[in-house]
Amino acid sequence: MTALRLEDTAPDFEQHSSQGTLRLYDYLGDSWGVLFSHPADFTPVCTTELGYTAIVSGEFAKRNVKVLALSVDDVDAHNGWINDINDTQNTTVNYPIIADADRKVATLYDMIHPNADNTATVRSVFVIDPQKKIRLILTYPASTGRNFDEILRVIDSLQLTDEYSVATPVNWKHSEDVIIVPSLQDEAELKVKFPKGYTVVRPYLRITPQPDL
Ligand code: BEZ
Repeated sequence: MTALRLEDTAPDFEQHSSQGTLRLYDYLGDSWGVLFSHPADFTPVCTTELGYTAIVSGEFAKRNVKVLALSVDDVDAHNGWINDINDTQNTTVNYPIIADADRKVATLYDMIHPNADNTATVRSVFVIDPQKKIRLILTYPASTGRNFDEILRVIDSLQLTDEYSVATPVNWKHSEDVIIVPSLQDEAELKVKFPKGYTVVRPYLRITPQPDL
């Protein structure tokens, strides 16, 4: 199996989950998606990640993003663990966790890296756009919790690129200036697309205020 790469179509699948049998494409519908894996249920780092994801679920919803976790344990284990997450992280997990006990999805998405662990998944993240294209792939080691604010930041950047033909510079944060993509050269089009104007620092580096504000 070839590993998935950016702009590949996210493979569809059907699998058990904490909210019943789930088919990826039906679950996502026309939304963006974040599919993220964890080494196992009842592990400390994962507990904090899943709790935080529930706490910021409004931020994902605002961006039209559906969240989907995965762990290679069964539905009963997931349900017991969700109670723990809710209790310890003061939240309510309101998104499904795939119960990938047979590792069907983990194998499809290359989430098991045998030199790290033969059976457990690493911390993978896939951001999937409404056309079902993979737009971001992250791989973290089991011992390092991911930064879910960074995942939201990348989704903001991707959505701005799709809507306004802009890219985002180093360490960009919401509301800061952005970069006009170099492929956009037509003066008339630039005037229409960027009514607030833009600064030409170099012909290839043109800065404009974040267009959707
Ligand atoms: C975990 O919480 O998943 C974890 C913590 C330390 C090492 C590996 C995994």
